[in-house]
Amino acid sequence: MKKIAVYPGSFDPITNGHIDIITRALRMFDELIVLVAYNPAKTSLFTVEERMALIRDVLGRDEQRLHVDCSAGLLVDYVRSRGANVILRGLRAVSDFEYEFQMALINRRLNRDVETVFLMTGYQWFYTSSNLIKEAASLGGSVEGLVPDAVLARLQAKYNHQK
Ligand code: PNS
Repeated sequence: MKKIAVYPGSFDPITNGHIDIITRALRMFDELIVLVAYNPAKTSLFTVEERMALIRDVLGRDEQRLHVDCSAGLLVDYVRSRGANVILRGLRAVSDFEYEFQMALINRRLNRDVETVFLMTGYQWFYTSSNLIKEAASLGGSVEGLVPDAVLARLQAKYNHQK
């Protein structure tokens, strides 16, 4: 049986930290679905379509085992609809733990067949997040090296456009 994992997130936008998780996960799973999912607690800078296009651009289209999709519904329902049973999440410093633990528990309560698996983020990305990257970029700070070049260009375009 194929080991299929779903890696959900806002990906607003995708960062080098996300890419690190994706690259490592591809060594563990037969297929990986990067899912742009709806987080009601966040307002996004990029549209769902823009986020998916950026993910596809930076990850390339050569890896047949990697899929990009979006969902506005319940995560566990999506996971089962794709024949998967693993939710993959990256874990940064301690601050992530409580939120991630709560999400893993609610998802397991919603569907006991779905397990959440965590990968520790690479140390270079331990203290960065899409939110901090957006904040820095919006104020003219350099976020080079934290996001792929294509994302850097899109961030600059967004914020210059808004000035
Ligand atoms: O990158 P984020 O914003 O931390 O990702 C959070 C996300 C999108 C994975 C989470 O909000 C989510 O699972 N949304 C889908 C809706 C859902 O199933 N919610 C119930 C479980 S928390």
